[in-house]
Amino acid sequence: MRVHVAFTPAEAGTAPTGIVIDVIRATSTICQALASGCPKVLCTGEVEDAVALREALGEGLLGGERNAVRIPGFDLGNSPREYVDGVDAPLILTTTNGTRAILSAAARCERVLVASLVNLAALVDAAREAGEDVVVVCAGVQSTLALDDAFVAGRIVELLGWERTDAAEAAARLAGSWSGAEEALRASKSGRNLLENAPELEPDIPFCARESVLDVAPRLVGMRDGAAEIAL
Ligand code: MLT
Repeated sequence: MRVHVAFTPAEAGTAPTGIVIDVIRATSTICQALASGCPKVLCTGEVEDAVALREALGEGLLGGERNAVRIPGFDLGNSPREYVDGVDAPLILTTTNGTRAILSAAARCERVLVASLVNLAALVDAAREAGEDVVVVCAGVQSTLALDDAFVAGRIVELLGWERTDAAEAAARLAGSWSGAEEALRASKSGRNLLENAPELEPDIPFCARESVLDVAPRLVGMRDGAAEIAL
């Protein structure tokens, strides 16, 4: 089995299994929401699509961010810590990079898994169980490489232990260049953006840097009105 890493969604190419990472913070939030009882997360690219979807569904919580902070009129933001205490309704989520990367992978891959550090071990088990070649898709920041997602991609490459493309090898070597996850997340553009736009959300960084604390492997289960439906 072979693993490739796309450092931005535009490079993604195709593979039977796509693994999408936006560790700061969309995929960490999705993992936390589903682990806390949320029945499904519907990912949209645009704010207006999220609002229209809730109207069409007649239920659900609106969550997400622009410039790191909660979107006006939305129920929740994009801090995974907001989702710890339980979510008992579908979540309709829109974020700047992460939900768009999931939609992009949904259009290219037969199977899409959602990765973060908090679910690293469960995610790797799910990819092994699928037993087919993988492309790890980093959401990045505004179509450019972001070190936080590249770090997580490298951890996935290391743990899978499969044949690597040069990009996968680069991710693994890059991941090995930091002493730990929190250092990598703080060094990234995503981490700096979060601190610049919403310094009060700084605790999200150590929260997202915890490894394998949630036993969930979120996956794409279908499309609903243009939104990617993610569930366990
Ligand atoms: C994104 O999708 O760009 C991120 O999740 C941004 C964030 O909320 O930190």
